[in-house]
Amino acid sequence: MDNAIDLSEILTHLFNGEYPALGSGSGRRVYDLKNETVLKTAKNKKGYAQNQIESIISEMDDSDLFAKVLFISPDNQFLIMEKAEPIMDFSYVRDFFHVKTNKELFQLDNFNYIPHKYNLLITDLCRPVNWGMLRGRPVIIDYGFTGRIRRKYYSIF
Ligand SMILES: Nc1ncnc2c1ncn2[C@@H]1O[C@H](COP(=O)(O)OP(=O)(O)O)[C@@H](O)[C@H]1O
Ligand SMILES: [Mg+2]
Repeated sequence: MDNAIDLSEILTHLFNGEYPALGSGSGRRVYDLKNETVLKTAKNKKGYAQNQIESIISEMDDSDLFAKVLFISPDNQFLIMEKAEPIMDFSYVRDFFHVKTNKELFQLDNFNYIPHKYNLLITDLCRPVNWGMLRGRPVIIDYGFTGRIRRKYYSIF
């Protein structure tokens, strides 16, 4: 985590509309900070929780499978992550790791611990929108959607 990041300066630029919007999910808006990082701003309680989860997983994980979190605000509203380029098709990820099926992918030594350890769903992890390209490698860019968050904020029961 880089505490030298000047959040108030970033927010000034944000409110001036200087950062292009890259996308929006159910919990967050994402902006291009134009220095190879993105800003994820929580727009509701889910977004705060997802920011917090991503910062925890990013700190715990030693693999190069996740785009790293570089900063999170104390209240979890703002998160800065390495920027990845979009991938269009999940076959790209399978080809990169030399597997034919998603099942085989999650049987690889460096993949098989992920769903269980971080409580992430394989079906979410197999969606190309949740991945991007960084330094020539595919990385996961949306990994705040754990089973706990799903039950707490998305369950209709
Ligand atoms: N690290 C990143 N690099 C580039 N684009 C990103 C990154 N993280 C998110 N995005 C873009 O922003 C969109 C929304 O972000 P996401 O993390 O999926 O939010 P949510 O958790 O609310 O679904 C993504 O679908 C993607 O297009
Ligand atoms: Mg998303």
